[in-house]
Amino acid sequence: MQKTIIVIGGGPGGYVAAIRAAQLGAKVHLIEKGNLGGTCLNVGCIPTKALLHTVELYEAVKSASPIGLKVEKCSIDWPSLQKHRQVVVDRLVNGVKGLLKANGVEVHQGEGVLKNKNTVSVVGAGSKELTADYIILALGSSPVKLNFPGSELPGVIYSAAALSLEKIPASMVIVGGGVIGIELAALYNSVGCKVTVVEMLPEILPPVDSELAVQVREELSQRGVAFMNEAKLTEAVRGQNGLIAKVEKAGKVHELEAEKILMAVGRRANSTGAGLEKLGIATERGRIKVNSFFATNIPNVYAIGDCNGELMLAHAASAQGVAAVEHALGHEPAYYRQTVPSCIYIQPEVAGVGMTEDELKKKNIPYKVGRFPLAGNGKSVIENNGKGQIKVLAGAKYEEILGVHMIGPRVTDLIAEAAMAIRLEATVDELISTVHAHPTVSEAVAEAALAVNNQAIHWPPTAR
Ligand code: NAI
Repeated sequence: MQKTIIVIGGGPGGYVAAIRAAQLGAKVHLIEKGNLGGTCLNVGCIPTKALLHTVELYEAVKSASPIGLKVEKCSIDWPSLQKHRQVVVDRLVNGVKGLLKANGVEVHQGEGVLKNKNTVSVVGAGSKELTADYIILALGSSPVKLNFPGSELPGVIYSAAALSLEKIPASMVIVGGGVIGIELAALYNSVGCKVTVVEMLPEILPPVDSELAVQVREELSQRGVAFMNEAKLTEAVRGQNGLIAKVEKAGKVHELEAEKILMAVGRRANSTGAGLEKLGIATERGRIKVNSFFATNIPNVYAIGDCNGELMLAHAASAQGVAAVEHALGHEPAYYRQTVPSCIYIQPEVAGVGMTEDELKKKNIPYKVGRFPLAGNGKSVIENNGKGQIKVLAGAKYEEILGVHMIGPRVTDLIAEAAMAIRLEATVDELISTVHAHPTVSEAVAEAALAVNNQAIHWPPTAR
């Protein structure tokens, strides 16, 4: 008999789960209270990358005269860029709408509230009740809001607002040097805003391999971003040109002028409301608790993506959505957490998959490391003057790939090869013996694998 599935939430977790469930023959309802595409398409990944892409071209053109491209006048047209961002978002959101329709998924506009383990009411313009065999919660996450004096002042903003500012602010203090903080620091610095990043830890980008995090900070510092690590915002007050951010570092309070204060101190799983408590859905540290198939403690109810807090990344949510519906519908899901890459879309790009060197040290896992500077890669020299490196971490005994971390041109695409290597339990030898096209940045992946045993071709051996 045909099974029915209700998906609550139409972000990259929910809409992908819905499409996969429909492919597997289920009758699927998808409930969304906002726009299809969720945070990722509307106020997250896609609009950020649309803005960053234009800024990347702008930076490239501005600095292109040494490579034979002279442009007399090049400037950012912020209103047109904002329009373009919205055009991209609308196009992709409409694409999702079309895909759901083409797969026969019934979309309901409104808030989904769990009534029992098989019933959800849709609270919206006209309320209705839907029943199903399985329910997939894909509720997403919300920005963490800190309560500090001045936190309610206009000018204290969060990432969604930072993507659609009417004009470029003269100055911005970004609280939080995580992925959101760093991508937006790069963006606003490039368009002429004076940016200061305030990070409470000793280094920015805590989950990133720390060797790369240092390189990112140094690169952005060179471009004019100020960093205050081991510092915290204590108060915001009105100032002559917007706000004054009071930042405490090493026992001293610094007053920073900030037309805007952008809060980017993490996101919190949406794990309350929507009838979750009433149904008794278990949570742990504010996240919906799930097993390895993303099933909650309530039979036939699953939770995928940001709301289970496992990994707050769009592509992880989509993969979890597929795994959850496959499990519900009696298939054997395949979700390999260790193959989930993480990417930062600044210039040079940053990408990593698998374990970082910091994690290997912490877990006392014996490893070898191969580093290949992109100054030894022809295509990188052409593209960005050879800035960046690829680092391969391999098991000490069998040389299996444990992690790959990259900074350089196009590495957010290149990381897929490393993820596949981990998925296939490849060793450095298999990366090396896969022939990479010349001239491409991808050659550097094989070179970094060769460097694990100090045998890179296009870099001198380190002291043997
Ligand atoms: P995050 O967890 O990546 O970073 C938050 C940062 O704020 C950390 O460095 C933390 O130490 C710092 N922090 C926390 N409290 C602070 C305080 N009181 N004062 C100063 N610093 C403080 O969170 P973020 O950047 O907000 O991103 C949220 C989620 O969205 C993350 O899971 C991230 O992976 C995801 N995301 C992914 C992107 C990508 O894949 N390119 C882009 C943007 C977001």
